[in-house]
Amino acid sequence: MWRRYLLLVKVCLLNERKRHKMNTLIIYDSTFGNTAQIAQAMAERLGEHATVRTALATEVDLTEMKEIDLLLVGGPTQRHGVSPAMRTLLKSFPRRSLRGVSAAAFDTRYHMDAWKSGSAAHRIASRLKRTGVLLIMPPESFFVTQREGPLEDGELERAARWAEEIFERFETSRSVQQDTAEARK
Ligand SMILES: Cc1cc2nc3c(=O)[nH]c(=O)nc-3n(C[C@H](O)[C@H](O)[C@H](O)COP(=O)(O)O)c2cc1C
Repeated sequence: MWRRYLLLVKVCLLNERKRHKMNTLIIYDSTFGNTAQIAQAMAERLGEHATVRTALATEVDLTEMKEIDLLLVGGPTQRHGVSPAMRTLLKSFPRRSLRGVSAAAFDTRYHMDAWKSGSAAHRIASRLKRTGVLLIMPPESFFVTQREGPLEDGELERAARWAEEIFERFETSRSVQQDTAEARK
């Protein structure tokens, strides 16, 4: 009897997961278009699994962020840190306003050790932490050959693979959360 009940619960959970398509927002800044290309490659890959929206850092509407499951934020590394538009955006997020949202940060920069080049992604990740998000991947960098680009060969494909990995981690953490919630009932 209880086995049937458990099976029913599992079927209901699976149906619920199918019904709720992951809602993703990718926020990016880009001076010369390289980070925009990376964001687009991620959006295309995640679009196979989720509802995805991209927004420039200067165009983000904080009220639209309420329904998000997954947030990716990326920008160019400038002067060892984030670009001015990204800094303004990150400052505008109220503390603990994104609790329950899964997130990851990325940047574009020169291909050298991060302690030499700086990394916007690390700054973005530490700022995002204050909003209460769950960072499900370490910050990642994608490389340009020169200040204005282009990107190094293969970086768009690597960005798509990184996005896929984020999706897999998101699904795993969602399953664990749902199983835990179920076990508590
Ligand atoms: C004002 C300025 C400062 C920069 N400083 C850095 C830096 O400190 N470290 C680095 O790796 N790249 C630096 N760069 C190169 C940028 O990372 C590169 O232009 C960016 O990745 C290109 O992405 P975008 O086309 O999206 O702007 C700088 C670029 C600009 C314009």
